[in-house]
Amino acid sequence: MSKLIIDGGQRIIGEIKVQGAKNAVLPILAATILADGESVIHNCPKLRDVDKTDLVLEQLGCVVKREDGTVSVNPCGLCGCQICEELMRQMRSSIIFLGAIVSRCREAMVSMPGGCPIGLRPIDLHLKALRELGVEISEKHGYIHCTSKGIHGANIHLDFPSVGATENIMLAAVISDGVTTVSNAAREPEIVDLQNFLNSMGAKITGAGGSFIRIEGVDKLHGSEYTIMPDRIVAATYLAAAAITGGEILLSRVEPRDMRAILHVLREMGLEVKSGKNTIFLKSRGPLKSVHTVRTMPYPGFPTDIQSPFMSLACLARGTSVFVETIFENRFQHVDELVRMGADIKVEGRSAVVRGVEKLQGANVVARELRGGAALVVAALAAEGRTVISGTEYIDRGYENIEKYLHSCGADIRRVDI
Ligand code: EPZ
Repeated sequence: MSKLIIDGGQRIIGEIKVQGAKNAVLPILAATILADGESVIHNCPKLRDVDKTDLVLEQLGCVVKREDGTVSVNPCGLCGCQICEELMRQMRSSIIFLGAIVSRCREAMVSMPGGCPIGLRPIDLHLKALRELGVEISEKHGYIHCTSKGIHGANIHLDFPSVGATENIMLAAVISDGVTTVSNAAREPEIVDLQNFLNSMGAKITGAGGSFIRIEGVDKLHGSEYTIMPDRIVAATYLAAAAITGGEILLSRVEPRDMRAILHVLREMGLEVKSGKNTIFLKSRGPLKSVHTVRTMPYPGFPTDIQSPFMSLACLARGTSVFVETIFENRFQHVDELVRMGADIKVEGRSAVVRGVEKLQGANVVARELRGGAALVVAALAAEGRTVISGTEYIDRGYENIEKYLHSCGADIRRVDI
């Protein structure tokens, strides 16, 4: 266990090379079990969630080797089709393995992933789609047991553009008889990364990034070498850190095209934002302006994952901003902690009304989930005095060495083990 200690008031000025995307590497690591040989994944971030995924792969019988930012996975020894309850509870996003395991093994057994701090996180859309692909599914004693005599093509419509369900369908249908289509598919860039990786293994998938994806089943996939896309949420978090401290930052190894909604809000708040080929430059130009309404939506709308760090920004903006969280039902847990730091925020259901204040004060605060924890880091950088953040294990799920990156840009931040 550890805590982050931040003495606020230092301007964030510098350059950061952005880490690989957590939400791209997790489904791509799941996809490696579908190959008939080793895959090598580069730009893999050092995160708790990636460590847990490596454990799942090893539990299934794969050989996993990690060297700095490269993970190699050899699935030839794959002998299991079950993910233990402990791992599922530690990382509910392991549900992304379901489609790949049942495709590879014709059977899968995972415990119900359960909810998490931000919501119930149902998987009904995943299970409905797998059944349409010919998977028999029974749910009892808290476990999901899948069996299949072979995946056949299907025309699937998602009631909601679920990221995980879209990915599970791709992983289940990529090796199958026939063609599978997904309408109302999620359009997140991480899904494009998964399509590109699968196609590099010999798959025939088109349409990712749009709401209609076509998967032409193939007989087998070979191992591949691939580099993970940049993490747009981590990139946005570092932009918020520079913005709230009146600083300036140059991000490299980013994809501005994936961040249009995010950059639009930053410009609305009065920040200078310039995009290059794989760079984003942000510079503060005076006090932050409030944003009339920030409504989280499926991509390409404003991402729910950056709602909380941007709410920290709005706490010090001139005027009132309204945040509407339409994706998850419990994603305002950072509000109480920001109020402890002097923020003026009122939550009404899915909306949070943020009235800008002159300053925030350092305080002892608790991270209760990943992005809410990042929001506390952003706020602490601008607060007067010292902030001590506990619950860093949540932050470490998605941010590689956050204190190292921020310290390199002038933040007075350190981690203490407790
Ligand atoms: C992915 O979660 C991301 N996680 C989340 O990032 C992200 O917030 C989310 O997509 C939305 O962009 C990973 O990629 C590992 P969804 P996922 O299925 O796939 C409902 C982070 O901080 N739903 O698109 O679970 C669900 O309740 C994490 O990095 C159903 O009702 O998101 C939610 O309201 C947090 N039934 C909405 O859809 C289902 O079967 C969005 O969920 C599935 C989802």
